[in-house]
Amino acid sequence: MIVALLVSTGAAWESAALAALTAHPGVVVLKRCVDVDDLLATASAGQAQVAVLGAELSGLDATVVADLHGHGVRVLAVAADADVARTRAGHLGLDGVLEEDRVDVVADVVTGLMSDAPPTLPAPVATEAMADDGGPAGRVVAVWGPAGAPGRTTIAVALAAELARRRLTTVLLDADPYGGAVAQHLGVLDEVSGLLSAARLVAGGTLAERFPTVQRRLSDRLRLVTGLPRPDRWSEVRPGALAEIVDVARRDGQVVIDTGFSLEHDPAADFGARAQRNGLTLEALEVADDIVVVGSADPVGLARLARAVSDAHDVLAAPRLRVVVNRMRPTLGWREVDVAAMLDGFGSNVGVHFLPDDQAAVDRALVAGRTLLEGGESPLTRAVGALVDAMAGAPAAARSVRR
Ligand SMILES: Nc1ncnc2c1ncn2[C@@H]1O[C@H](COP(=O)(O)OP(=O)(O)OP(=O)(O)O)[C@@H](O)[C@H]1O
Ligand SMILES: [Mg+2]
Repeated sequence: MIVALLVSTGAAWESAALAALTAHPGVVVLKRCVDVDDLLATASAGQAQVAVLGAELSGLDATVVADLHGHGVRVLAVAADADVARTRAGHLGLDGVLEEDRVDVVADVVTGLMSDAPPTLPAPVATEAMADDGGPAGRVVAVWGPAGAPGRTTIAVALAAELARRRLTTVLLDADPYGGAVAQHLGVLDEVSGLLSAARLVAGGTLAERFPTVQRRLSDRLRLVTGLPRPDRWSEVRPGALAEIVDVARRDGQVVIDTGFSLEHDPAADFGARAQRNGLTLEALEVADDIVVVGSADPVGLARLARAVSDAHDVLAAPRLRVVVNRMRPTLGWREVDVAAMLDGFGSNVGVHFLPDDQAAVDRALVAGRTLLEGGESPLTRAVGALVDAMAGAPAAARSVRR
C-alpha cells in the first residue's frame, strides 16, 4: 500500500486528484496538508511515501524537496504548464510532473513513481556538516574583527539569516560589550535586553527552562537574543554567563554571535572576580567552533585585520579562524589574489573569503530593518552564501581554548 499526502490549497485539480487517489486500491491518502510547513511536519513522521502538490505551491523550493526526500517522500507536482514545470522540476529535484488535465491518472503515476529507485538524498545542505560531530548540538560561529566597524554585525546577521534560509534553526546572539546593534539592524524594538535577561536567568539557575522567553522569533527558524541596551551595562554579564547562554542556545541549533572588537585584557580584573568588558568577546571566541574575523578591505582595515589575527593567535590556542575581507571594491585597485597573498602569512589554518562592497543591498536592508536576504538576491547575499558553503564543507573544529 502506498501512503500518499496531498497538499490542498484550493486548486481546481485537487478534488479530482483526491478522488483518483482514494479510488485506487493500492494507494491511501494519509492526510490533506494545508501548506509546506504542514507537509514537512507530516512527512517527518516517516509514514508517507509520496506527496502530491501543485508546482506553484508557495514556499516550495529545493530545500523543501530535499527535506521530503530525507523523510523518504517522493514529490509529484501537478502543473498547468508541464513544460514550465519540468524545467523547474530539475532545479527543485522533483520526482515527477503531471499536467493538470491528466490528473485522473494521478494514482497510476504515483504507483509508477514508487517503482523507481528510492529518492536520492539531498545535496549536502549545511545541515549535517554544520552539526557538531553528529551530536544534537549546533555549531557556534563567533563573528569578530578589529575596531573601525568593518561589518561584524552586518555579517553576523547575514550569516544567521542564510543558515535559517537553509532550514537550520539558528539563534543570533548579540554579545557586543560595546553596545548591541543587531536589534537596530533588524528593526526590533527591544524594551528588554535578551542578553541581560539571559544573564539574570543564568544567575538564577533557570536559563535552560526559560531560554525561549529571552529570544525574539524573527522567522520560523531565526531567533534573536538582543544585546546590551547601553554600552555601560556590560558589567551585568558576569564571567562565565555567556558560555552558559551559548551552551543552552546550541541545544536548539546553530548559534551566531556578534562580538566586540578588542581582546585587550584589563589587569585590574585579575584582582578579585571582577568582570572585564572584553571578557565577553573573549568568552565568545573561546566557545566558538568557528571564528569569523571580519576586516575591511582598505589599507587601514587590512592592517588592523592582520593585527587582529595575530592577537587571536596570542590569546587563544589553535583558534580556527576564517578571515573575511569585507567591502572589496574595484576602486581600491587590488585583486583578491593580491590581498590573499598579503594575508597568507597569517597561518595555515586560516581561510580567506571576500565579500563585496554592496552599499545598495546593505542600505536596503538597514533602512527596512530587515536581513540582507529579505531585500532580495545581491552580490553580497551570494557571497555570504558561498561563505556558508565553505563553512559547511569544513570538518567540525576543535574548540579553541585560552592560552
Ligand atoms: N559589504 C558591505 N557593503 C557595504 N556596506 C557595508 C558592508 N558591510 C558593512 N557595511 C556598512 O558598514 C557599516 C558598519 O557595519 P556594521 O555595523 O556591521 O559594522 P560593525 O563591525 O558591527 O561595527 P561596530 O563596531 O559598530 O559594531 C554599516 O553602515 C554597514 O551598512
Ligand atoms: Mg556591530
